[in-house]
Amino acid sequence: MMNHPIESNPRALATGLHAKALERRLDLAVVVPTFNERENVPLLISALREALGDLRWEIVFVDDDSPDGTGEIIDKFARRDGAIRLLRRVGRRGLSSACIEGALATSASVIAVMDADMQHDERVLPLMLARLREEGIDVVVGTRNAQGGSMGEFSARRRLLSGMGQRISSAVCRCELSDPMSGFFLFRRSFFLEVVHRLHGGGFKILVDMLASSKRPVRLAEVGYQFRGRVHGESKLDLNNGIELLFLVASKLTGDVIPSRFAVFSLVGAVGLITHMLCLGLLLRRLHWSFNEAQGVAAFVAMTENFFVNNLITYRDNSLRGSRLVTGLLSFWLACSFGAWANVSFARSLLQSGMPWIAAGAAGIVLGSVWNYTVSSLFTWQTPRHSADLVASQERPQPDAETYR
Ligand code: GDD
Ligand code: MN
Repeated sequence: MMNHPIESNPRALATGLHAKALERRLDLAVVVPTFNERENVPLLISALREALGDLRWEIVFVDDDSPDGTGEIIDKFARRDGAIRLLRRVGRRGLSSACIEGALATSASVIAVMDADMQHDERVLPLMLARLREEGIDVVVGTRNAQGGSMGEFSARRRLLSGMGQRISSAVCRCELSDPMSGFFLFRRSFFLEVVHRLHGGGFKILVDMLASSKRPVRLAEVGYQFRGRVHGESKLDLNNGIELLFLVASKLTGDVIPSRFAVFSLVGAVGLITHMLCLGLLLRRLHWSFNEAQGVAAFVAMTENFFVNNLITYRDNSLRGSRLVTGLLSFWLACSFGAWANVSFARSLLQSGMPWIAAGAAGIVLGSVWNYTVSSLFTWQTPRHSADLVASQERPQPDAETYR
């Protein structure tokens, strides 16, 4: 690598082979996911060159076959300079999975992840690297909120969303980070390899994913920086990414034992229960209906609400539209009515066999939800049964990929 000076270690130079090995040993790999960033790539490369100076570094761009030709631009640089690499993925989308695959593609002992759009300040990378080395830290997070950091030009709405995500993420990571949503951080390769098999891999929040996947407390440090405005192009973050975060949180909170889709389905069911109770109260107290009628209608309203919310969120990759919405709703009503019947009968029989009412009631709910989930995913939404298929179907470009452009 021409632009990286060889470490002048006399002992190493004594053996040619060792010197060559040292020459190739990298201090830092910067993994940069890209999607439609053609104007930003050259800016980022020169900014990184300047910021990283004498360090032995490489940049691993992971491009998801950007329609604007970002891949071709990176390729031009990569052909001239071995320190600039391109990992191109075809037929795939996803920020987290891009970062994971980029990190797996390098053998540098320290790996940084940053956006291509110049929003993250590359000048703090050497400081982040120094902190990681000095203090035996696993992960150093570039923080927008810490001292010396700032949120820059962020809309109030974006700030609110960010704040909400932050609270949820802190709970999942079991750590105190002022900016767990950060997309700018640096970590030891050894730590990454420790958690890589447990990563969820979906969505935007690779840092949260890594921290929540660790079996031991993570040694963390934060370095503040000034969040800059985007130079070119536009953000790809949208509501879909919020939903993806929900899936990540669900899978981490349930320790990956329960499929995240089932966890989200149950969460929707719990919200449906609140709707049911509100509806029941209204019909009984205000409209003076009989209990049986009120209970029946409340269940019907809650089921219908659950159907639409599940269609939008839980099965967003397989949403029913048009006439399939009607047949789907009918099959969901049928499945859930049977689920409710099974729930009550099972709980009643447990109660009669002497089980305390709390345990009997809870067992009925578990049976009913598992039934509802299984039947509705097999018939109403007809989703793949194996988790590997599930990941594949979530990764496939969505029909509304146009909105990303
Ligand atoms: N390969 C690949 N595939 N790259 C992607 C994809 C994808 O599907 N979607 C986005 N990217 C790239 C973008 O090109 C950019 O380099 C980076 O990922 C971040 O995307 P932005 O669209 O700029 O996201 P943002 O600015 O709204 O949010 C980012 O910054 C936040 C603050 O640090 C993300 O990193 C968030 O996770 C982070 O919270
Ligand atoms: Mn950005």
